[in-house]
Amino acid sequence: MHVDARPFSVWAPGRVNLIGEHTDYSGGLVLPIAIQYGIRLEAAPAEHWITLESEGFGGPETVAADGGGPRALGWARYVQAVAAELADAGRPAIGLAGTISSDLPPGAGLSSSAALEVAVALALCAVADFELEPLELALLCQRSELRAVGVPCGILDQAACLLGSGERAILLDCDSLEHRLIPVPPDVGLVIVDSGVTRSLENTAYAERRSELEHALRLVGVARSTDVETAALERLDDIPMRRLRHVVSENERVRRFAAALETEDLVTAGAVLGESHKSLRDDYNVSIPELDLLVELAADAGAIGARLLGGGFGGSVLVIAHASHAKRVGDAIANRYRQRVGAGSDAVLVRASPGASCSRA
Ligand code: GLA
Repeated sequence: MHVDARPFSVWAPGRVNLIGEHTDYSGGLVLPIAIQYGIRLEAAPAEHWITLESEGFGGPETVAADGGGPRALGWARYVQAVAAELADAGRPAIGLAGTISSDLPPGAGLSSSAALEVAVALALCAVADFELEPLELALLCQRSELRAVGVPCGILDQAACLLGSGERAILLDCDSLEHRLIPVPPDVGLVIVDSGVTRSLENTAYAERRSELEHALRLVGVARSTDVETAALERLDDIPMRRLRHVVSENERVRRFAAALETEDLVTAGAVLGESHKSLRDDYNVSIPELDLLVELAADAGAIGARLLGGGFGGSVLVIAHASHAKRVGDAIANRYRQRVGAGSDAVLVRASPGASCSRA
């Protein structure tokens, strides 16, 4: 087969989920954006091996072009898993050699692993002239996460990375995969403040929450969380009731938040974020004291709303503030947090940005 030997460059952004947390793996609703930070992979085709060097991640790492051979370690597990999933999908086993660089803080809840999976997947597709639709690729990368590190994640992170669109959020139904873009009003400033508590989801109760939720769905006899009637919750015991109540109410909050963005009603948007945090903390039990403190400090600093971001158990909070104050509000939260906890890092402003792409040199 013909291989285009020109070097190429892939960009795969991280994501910030505006709302809809722990809803994706039960066919619920999410509203993420792709952000302006992410992973760049520059490479050229090679014969049988994938060789990647990286300043930030360590390496170089080499895995077989079809993902076979001995089990890789560290970040190379993701590369190997993506290559193996693509081989299962029929991609010819053509390798590549290149470099990876990232400006995404790992463990901060901005989906560095999904960005890595998508970057590698797009690069491997490019060298083999192999094409998949963005959502097929997102599903393939989601399976790669499970294959690489055993995390049974939903499609949120990979879909956001691939479907991202400048200045717009993606309202995605994780069951039908139907989606539409919702403009983020220019007055909405989005700030990320990191708790400094790093974690990778493989070492948290993420998988346990997912199985608790699936158990609760079986008890009410429904497959998709968007189909659960609130009255059904009353029949359940405490834990299944709270897990399901979070997801059912979070789906509703996604709808309300999207409507608030469309009508530029920032007060409602902020209140809905606050409700989401409480529900993640009290019903889903995925918060930690550091994230609760950041949410409190956000209110003191004049934010419109704040909540924990992503899977929880560490990582960052998302804060919304009026765009003209966002930097000041973010800095105030980060400074107060540093004084209280002695950890953390600078607040980071993020904006809805284009999704992953691949270009030839
Ligand atoms: C992680 C997972 C996602 C999603 C979120 C919680 O980011 O990778 O699939 O479940 O947690 O919303």
